[in-house]
Amino acid sequence: MQVIGLVRKSFRAMSALFCKTGNIFDMYRTHTCGELRIADVGKTVTLAGWVQKSRKLGGMTFIDLRDRYGITQLTVDAVADTALVETASSLGREYVIQAVGTVVERQSKNPKMPTGDIEISLSSLNILNKAQTPPFTIEDESDGGEELRARYRYLDLRRNPLKKALELRHRIAHEVRNYLDGQGFLEIETPYLIKSTPEGARDFVVPSRMNPGQFYALPQSPQTFKQLLMVAGYDRYFQIVRCFRDEDLRADRQPEFTQIDCEMSFVERDDVLDVFEGMMRTLFKNVLDVEIPNPIPRMSWFDAMDYYGSDKPDIRFGMKIHEITDMVKGHGFSVFDSVDYVGAICAEGLASYTRKQLDELTEWVKRPQVGAKGLVYIKVNEDGSIKSSVDKFYSHDDLKAIAEKMEAGPGDLILVLCGSRRKTQTMLGVLRIEMGNRLGYRDPHDFAPLWVVDFPLLEWDDETSRFYAMHHPFTAPKPEHLDLFYSDRKEDLEKVCANAYDFVLNGTELGGGSIRIHNAKVQQRMFEVLGFSEEDAQYKFGFIINAFKFGAPPHGGLAFGFDRVCALFGGQETIRDYIAFPKNNQGRDVMIDSPSYIDQSQMDELFLASTAKKE
Ligand code: AMO
Repeated sequence: MQVIGLVRKSFRAMSALFCKTGNIFDMYRTHTCGELRIADVGKTVTLAGWVQKSRKLGGMTFIDLRDRYGITQLTVDAVADTALVETASSLGREYVIQAVGTVVERQSKNPKMPTGDIEISLSSLNILNKAQTPPFTIEDESDGGEELRARYRYLDLRRNPLKKALELRHRIAHEVRNYLDGQGFLEIETPYLIKSTPEGARDFVVPSRMNPGQFYALPQSPQTFKQLLMVAGYDRYFQIVRCFRDEDLRADRQPEFTQIDCEMSFVERDDVLDVFEGMMRTLFKNVLDVEIPNPIPRMSWFDAMDYYGSDKPDIRFGMKIHEITDMVKGHGFSVFDSVDYVGAICAEGLASYTRKQLDELTEWVKRPQVGAKGLVYIKVNEDGSIKSSVDKFYSHDDLKAIAEKMEAGPGDLILVLCGSRRKTQTMLGVLRIEMGNRLGYRDPHDFAPLWVVDFPLLEWDDETSRFYAMHHPFTAPKPEHLDLFYSDRKEDLEKVCANAYDFVLNGTELGGGSIRIHNAKVQQRMFEVLGFSEEDAQYKFGFIINAFKFGAPPHGGLAFGFDRVCALFGGQETIRDYIAFPKNNQGRDVMIDSPSYIDQSQMDELFLASTAKKE
């Protein structure tokens, strides 16, 4: 017994290594459903799993047995033992069974299945558990709608696409840990019940029973803790960590999501970029066998906005934005004359767009999601003639000069928007992505990574009449901008650049970070610029301000959105399928029906009263 125990143990250790190929040895099975091949013919095996389907054909029963590793066909002969035939006939979809039999070569092989050369001729069959008929088909393409599948997520997770997504997630996490461990990073956990801070998104809060009327907040990120770890001397920290943000949800946003969160001491910007460029390079190579450019290109935030209308440009294709303000003003077209910015993009080959298509595109840019007031077009026809929606105001030569500036050739379509500078560039950025999609420029299996650097440190908000930190209040100004940072003039403060960087992939912000302020005086100034009184800053951030008085090393770091990394590696933009149990767009988990009301007694215990009416 002892010996068998040992063999079993080492086999298990090996199976962990081999889990991709499915070598597994359990009490209930000798092999997985993805494992057996022609070389195994003649072996007696025991499999366990779920009945994908079962059908009768000429007295034989064929059962497709499924587990995490694949599907194997089982057969029960009409002349087999009656009890066996009866059990085989009684199987329903998703029954959990254990089957013993001999591996035989199939007569009609299925080249689409890895196990398609063989089948198992059963000698016994044991129903481990019956199953209700699932509310949708457990197939790669299910007949269940999104809502229904979300309610039965554990059934949806049985489907191949979701299984592959979670396997990919596991693999990436494993590679991240391996790489960072190799670089001397320590994985250290930080608390989930922390203090509410006012910056960034809204906090999720948790009432404290032991401290009546007081609340914890769930961390939007471990930002302050990782900086405290630097003060404590743990000079290379990382954590694959859950973060919580109460913000409007989108395809690439969940209220709880995961970051690969990192921080380093005694580093400058390029040290950080080097380490994480190395990490992304390793992930691409080891997970997808893709080589990414070396070095990864860098672009300033200002160029990103001017040429791509986005702080996360998709550089898989050109179609850059060009400013044409000077070329179009003063020709009597009041729309252009009355604005401070006119910009354009050139969509290759789309001069063939009909009037109807152009009208439809005009309506498209007027939707609130884009927000333009109208759209001007200039078509460079195949014969070289030029046609535009503003022919009345511009001569052929004027339009030709614009076409030349836009590098538009015969057959191309120039699309022009105008308004205030940044807003119009942003709209052009959205239009550019749309045209990129229409032209098929955005293949999810092409990867174009980019560092966006030199962000403005501060963003002015007209509504509240104050500055906000563009990243967070611990981001350092670029050293050469420190003088501006101490100026009292709004225009000067607007010019201060942050020592910050974002990692962008295919138009998605995958990660972001910065060199931090490590000097108490500069941090104090930051709080002052953000409009916090000294008491306010002490109340909200006293712990970090004080810690910095005890020898904070120069430090910096970044965090990657782990769910986003997984989704993009999987060729998707939606992160939901890369999370085992995600929330829907209303922030609900419809499977466990959460959030939900709590008992009055629970409310009382927490000293809570609700003004909301129960539905
Ligand atoms: P930031 O707020 O930019 O930085 O977040 C880092 C990365 O996390 C991902 N992300 C999200 N993913 C899914 N759902 C969300 N709601 C969501 N919000 C953010 C993005 C983003 O790039 N503490 C800083 C990092 C640092 O400075 O070190 C931070 O949290 O991919």
